[in-house]
Amino acid sequence: MNILILGNGGREHALAWAVLQNPKCDALIVAPGNAGIAQIAACADIDILNPQAVVDFAAENAIDFVIVGPEAPLAEGVVDALTQSGILAFGPSKEAARLEASKAFTKEICDAAKAPTAAYARFSDAASARAYIEAQGAPIVVKADGLAAGKGVIVAMEVQTALDAIEDMFGGEFGTAGAEVVIEEFMEGEEASFFILSDGKSILPIGTAQDHKRAFDNDEGPNTGGMGAYSPAPVLSDAVAEQTLREIVQPTIDEMSKRGTPYRGVLYAGLMIKDGHARLVEYNVRFGDPECQVLMLRLGAQALDLMLACAEGRLDQMQVNWAKDHAISVVMAAKGYPGAYEKGSVIRGLEVLLKDSNHMVFHAGTKAEDGAIIASGGRVLNVTARGETLTEARARAYDMVHKIDWPEGFCRSDIAWRAL
Ligand code: AMP
Ligand code: GLY
Repeated sequence: MNILILGNGGREHALAWAVLQNPKCDALIVAPGNAGIAQIAACADIDILNPQAVVDFAAENAIDFVIVGPEAPLAEGVVDALTQSGILAFGPSKEAARLEASKAFTKEICDAAKAPTAAYARFSDAASARAYIEAQGAPIVVKADGLAAGKGVIVAMEVQTALDAIEDMFGGEFGTAGAEVVIEEFMEGEEASFFILSDGKSILPIGTAQDHKRAFDNDEGPNTGGMGAYSPAPVLSDAVAEQTLREIVQPTIDEMSKRGTPYRGVLYAGLMIKDGHARLVEYNVRFGDPECQVLMLRLGAQALDLMLACAEGRLDQMQVNWAKDHAISVVMAAKGYPGAYEKGSVIRGLEVLLKDSNHMVFHAGTKAEDGAIIASGGRVLNVTARGETLTEARARAYDMVHKIDWPEGFCRSDIAWRAL
């Protein structure tokens, strides 16, 4: 079959890599892709936020299956448009994508599904939000309702920080994303990510991971899109996974279907785990980035079969075949990220690295120029490795990191510290 993947990050490079392992894939196009993806697949420069442009491109190129990587095209209704045109697509509808696009909507679903999550209140004006914060005290969490590229959440350890966040959000700092604000109870515990496929009825867990949000070692520095991940996450034990599926995920899927907006695609449950009990922090309606990179390295070719079964509504016939393995991905970012950083530096040493089912460098913000690989974004490379133990996987990843010659880049040296 002919497959189209939408997106341009390390997540999409990993999806492309896994899809290409599967003999069902005859041809693969990634739009828009990046320099690493261009080494393994055709890339096409289309506007993936324009549903009609995606449909037209898919029709012209005889695409049989579209896999949507990031949340923005989902929230724009790309999957709805493809489905209406009879093109099979992996990812939720625009309505179902509200589980990520609106924090207030997710809270409403959690209430209806009786899923454990932080206590909360919703506000559409600054004065009542301020009064609520004063009454609750700190720590407290302030969230812009809409999509804000991961920047719309303020975990306030002091009341003043929360009040400042209210000023920013209602002052337009987050555009329309901040027109409504959710204020939440601060939850303590250890965070982990759980990835579950759903075809609208059945669910199938496909892996756990832990991300590292802070820029520097020891979880110091500013928040980022993610500086590294590993899978599996030991804190998400079988018992916690079972509780999460029973109390949070299945009731959510049932509630979405009851409302006539069934959820189809991968559901990424961000969890806070304390004393062996998980509560929901948030849902995302896509794979995590860089969590996808470790999941794909572990799943390999079966990832395509699973995504197809999910889109075709036959997930109940599927199972995941796990090896006893561990994977880790170390993000190399441009110095300065997540603040201001330079673009255009040359990355050397990639050619000599092993490329096999235990070693892969997935590209995020890269460009090819005159045969050289150039940094063109904040998060630039995802150095990803697999092993029988986490220690082995980690040694492989950092061995690759050390061989990459890119003085303008940096990475954390402690990815997976919690699990080791
Ligand atoms: P989100 O964008 O919802 O993932 O939030 C970003 C991060 O803020 C999460 O990964 C958590 O680390 C933190 N966070 C969000 N909500 C809460 C909460 N209610 N209690 C504690 N930390 C939170
Ligand atoms: N790594 C966090 C995310 O993809 O949202």
